[in-house]
Amino acid sequence: MLLVNGDRRETLPVSDRGLQYGDGLFETIEISDYQPVFFDRHLKRLKNGCRRLGIPFPAADILAEEAATLCRESSGRAVLKIIITAGSGGRGYRRPEAVETTRILSLHPYPDYPEVFNTRGIHTRICQTSLGINPALAGLKHLNRLEQVLARAEWTDPVIQEGIMLNSAGHVIEGTMTNLFYIKDHAVYTASLEQSGIAGIVRDLIIQIARQHQLKAEELNYTLDQLLTAEEIFVCNSIIGIWPVNQIEQIAFRCGPITQKIQQWLADYKQETLCREQ
Ligand SMILES: Cc1ncc(COP(=O)(O)O)c(C=O)c1O
Repeated sequence: MLLVNGDRRETLPVSDRGLQYGDGLFETIEISDYQPVFFDRHLKRLKNGCRRLGIPFPAADILAEEAATLCRESSGRAVLKIIITAGSGGRGYRRPEAVETTRILSLHPYPDYPEVFNTRGIHTRICQTSLGINPALAGLKHLNRLEQVLARAEWTDPVIQEGIMLNSAGHVIEGTMTNLFYIKDHAVYTASLEQSGIAGIVRDLIIQIARQHQLKAEELNYTLDQLLTAEEIFVCNSIIGIWPVNQIEQIAFRCGPITQKIQQWLADYKQETLCREQ
């Protein structure tokens, strides 16, 4: 269930810059009913990321065709990962004059998270590992994810589903594998991602959908103290959708009505999108 530059193989040259320097980007995409969900949004983020990193963007129709091939071979519900790297070449940091990208598409089982994570929420902790500040990389889903790897290595307790990460300026940014929102006074807030963090597909959608429903949605810099005054908190990504947060360390939060409303809006939007694309 792997395509490397369109070929069925499982190996890459060790000179690939994705391995050597993390010189590349990736997308993790839900497959539902044999279709990649929000595929156009994932391609748009990939294209924008390639532009920002100066990596040629592979033809969108080739990516779509290869994705469709793997979707057809899936069990209907799965996870599709797309990696684009700056290809092989050069022992040093300098890229070759003509970059020939590597594209890797792989299919993975859909994780069997319990339904209660959606309905009753999850326990979280605050991570010690902080995210660096780098406006040149902020927002990108690039291949350098050592901060998340270190943060996720901080706990093994299976009761805790997610760790919350601050950046080195002390601003709350996101979860180790999710974006984070909080609700207060009938408005929804999420971290500004101008200095750190990944601009998630679901995060963007939630901001859009909330505003369509006349719910104020704002991006800002905020601290842990501010987060702890929230009425409701939730995390989101393309695979889990939205999970309410019912506990941060020992502090309890309710799995409240606005989070439930946003879950419903997102589910409706996803259904409409899938029907339209069928
Ligand atoms: C660190 C981090 N932030 C945010 C996200 C959410 O991104 P998306 O909504 O595009 O899945 C992810 C997803 O894997 C992530 O790993």
